[in-house]
Amino acid sequence: MHKIVIHGGKPLKGEVEISGSKNSALPCLFATLLTDEESVLNNVPDLVDIDTTCSLLTTLGKTIERKGSTVFVKPGKKLQSEAPYDLVRKMRASALVLGPLLARCGVTRASLPGGCAIGLRPIDIHIDGFKTLGATTTLVNGMVEIKATELKGNKYKLKFQSVGATENLLMAASLATGDTILQNVAREPEIVDLANLLIKMGAKISGMGSSTIHITGVERLYRAEHTIIPDRIETATYLIATAMTQGNVVLRKTEPQHIECILQFLVKAGIKLKVNHSSIHCRATRKFKPVSVVTGPYPKFPTDVQAQWMALMALAAGKSYITEKIFESRHLHAAELCRMGAKIQSRSNQFIIEGVDRLQGAHVMVSDLRAGAALVLAGLAARGKTVIHRIYHLDRGYENLELKLKQLGANIERID
Ligand code: EPZ
Repeated sequence: MHKIVIHGGKPLKGEVEISGSKNSALPCLFATLLTDEESVLNNVPDLVDIDTTCSLLTTLGKTIERKGSTVFVKPGKKLQSEAPYDLVRKMRASALVLGPLLARCGVTRASLPGGCAIGLRPIDIHIDGFKTLGATTTLVNGMVEIKATELKGNKYKLKFQSVGATENLLMAASLATGDTILQNVAREPEIVDLANLLIKMGAKISGMGSSTIHITGVERLYRAEHTIIPDRIETATYLIATAMTQGNVVLRKTEPQHIECILQFLVKAGIKLKVNHSSIHCRATRKFKPVSVVTGPYPKFPTDVQAQWMALMALAAGKSYITEKIFESRHLHAAELCRMGAKIQSRSNQFIIEGVDRLQGAHVMVSDLRAGAALVLAGLAARGKTVIHRIYHLDRGYENLELKLKQLGANIERID
């Protein structure tokens, strides 16, 4: 099993290019199932989850070609309606096959995605939404089968602003008969990016980025080319890495508007930021202040930056509170940070962090993608050597992580 070894204490300095957004590229790849014509997606990051999605699309009948960061999804064999278990179990986002396959084939079967380290991750909102569009669903042997002779437009209010459910219902409604109004939807930039791709494919959608989206179903969707937005979570991760190592880094090819909340909190902590159209210059030269956060649906503080923020607050000059309101068990990184000398207590979904002067290197274990990022950041800032185990989680969501950090001066190696 590969590990990452970091000898910490070196300030990050230089420039880093932000990759395309994993959480936009995934739904956009699934959206290509909605057309028989070719789709061209630019700025697609090179990640394990992208490879898993491309394998799933190939199994379902598509022909995939990749040239650098451009992915060509071409028509192939007849579209299959069942997503195989061994691919779905690898990646929860595979649930995003349901909307497109239901719309195209009138029936779809996929194994229930199953939970992960951060929570149970049910898809009840997705299924409830499909039913509102006229589908019937049955659960048998861990598989969900969804059928609809015809998807009919309707009004549906999500009980929670689920990102995946918003994406699935947006894709299904694009080919439904008539108008659909989705209320209390997720407002993340990745939803807007998916809607922009669907519109380029011929869908009739308005209101994306707000709490209500209107869709007028169309007969068919067509060839489109689209460039994926920058990864806002990767951007936040490198900003926090710079702050924790008292560094001086310029982040390029990013979209500052997508992380306004993070930027405000970093400034509140005393970190110096110079924000331009597509770049952010980050400098941290002294102890930063403790800043408490509560995670929530966009545009609130993103749950995907909670672990990294906890690592940052572990070194702040005082006490801070982090409240996780999206996932019921997104906290395994706290215990690992304590192994590095952090002072963190938890009370149900709230964490109390007493900042310390230094963290010490240690052997730590990754439980999920963003927990892994938090442990890398802690290793970069810690005194001594940190060995990070189960780093396959990191490869799912951070493109060229060691290379980018090495180029910023970090002493980081991947070993067998
Ligand atoms: C997306 O997951 C992201 N993944 C997650 O990023 C992100 O943490 C999450 O949105 C929240 O922002 C991708 O985009 C591929 P949700 P998703 O549906 O769609 C509950 C990362 O690290 N819920 O918004 O699965 C659910 O249990 C990953 O990149 C239901 O109860 O998230 C959770 O508590 C991790 N029923 C909350 O809503 C449902 O039907 C948010 O889930 C659906 C969700």
